[in-house]
Amino acid sequence: MQKRIGRNDPCWCGSGKKYKDCHLEMDEKIKSYKLRGYKIPPRKIIKNKEQIDGIRTSGKVNIAVLDYVAENIHAGMSTEEINQLVDSKTRELGGIPAPLNYEGFPKSVCTSINDAVCHGIPSEEEILQDGDIINVDVSTIYKGYFSDSSRMFCIGNVPDESRKLVEDTLEAIQVGLAEVRPFNRLGNVGAAIHEFALSKGYQVVKEIGGHGVGLEFHEDPFVSYVTRRDTGMLLVPGMVFTIEPMINLGTDEIFIDEENDWTVYTEDGAPSAQWEVSVAVTEDGYEILAY
Ligand code: MF3
Ligand code: CO
Repeated sequence: MQKRIGRNDPCWCGSGKKYKDCHLEMDEKIKSYKLRGYKIPPRKIIKNKEQIDGIRTSGKVNIAVLDYVAENIHAGMSTEEINQLVDSKTRELGGIPAPLNYEGFPKSVCTSINDAVCHGIPSEEEILQDGDIINVDVSTIYKGYFSDSSRMFCIGNVPDESRKLVEDTLEAIQVGLAEVRPFNRLGNVGAAIHEFALSKGYQVVKEIGGHGVGLEFHEDPFVSYVTRRDTGMLLVPGMVFTIEPMINLGTDEIFIDEENDWTVYTEDGAPSAQWEVSVAVTEDGYEILAY
């Protein structure tokens, strides 16, 4: 049961403002959507200004760590060296790498090469080769706030097909972002990405997706990239989630490494690409908090 909040009571969001000067109007609008059958976000995933500020600051660390990787990544290095770059830079900036020990994940970053779709575990034995494409997925906890973003890197001379896949997957993020605005629906983000990927002849991974982020590593909603138009959760200001489609050159079928129980691979061995941003829904559109 939810106790009704008076107009002059403090807002539920923790802003310290009176309800009537804060979320009252938005709640009434959300309620009208609910009455029309829309799935609406639970209050706990709607962030106030202070929380968005905290996630943005965490995102700055995340961005700086990825910039540092970008400056130092090269053929001949091991993915364990990338892990060490990420771990040391994150800590130098006052953050904690969120992946380390998350549900037993053994390293501070995910590194996924070629047919590895995501959740690759850095290793001393895995050496970056000329022609590889690699996703480096960095997630930071800073002053209690979580941010999450990933980039692709092309190592040396990458085949045209793979390079195009990497570029198109970045464009898919833009296509998804164009759907992020208050009172649009989450399904349109995934639908736009899916339509775009299919139009280029790719397949989109269905089983894994994005997520709410900020107060925890993984929050609601689940962000799929194979959704239908005009379905899914209503987007409202203060929601923060990731857009992180995994787009495959070949089949969308995947399997999980039986030995480490983490790394996801394409069934046919064809390359997969992924970029990830953390995005906030604002009053009139969106703000990227990590990229
Ligand atoms: N950064 C990944 C994501 O985007 C997190 C994977 S969980 C980990 O959701 F433990 F593998 F890091
Ligand atoms: Co993520």
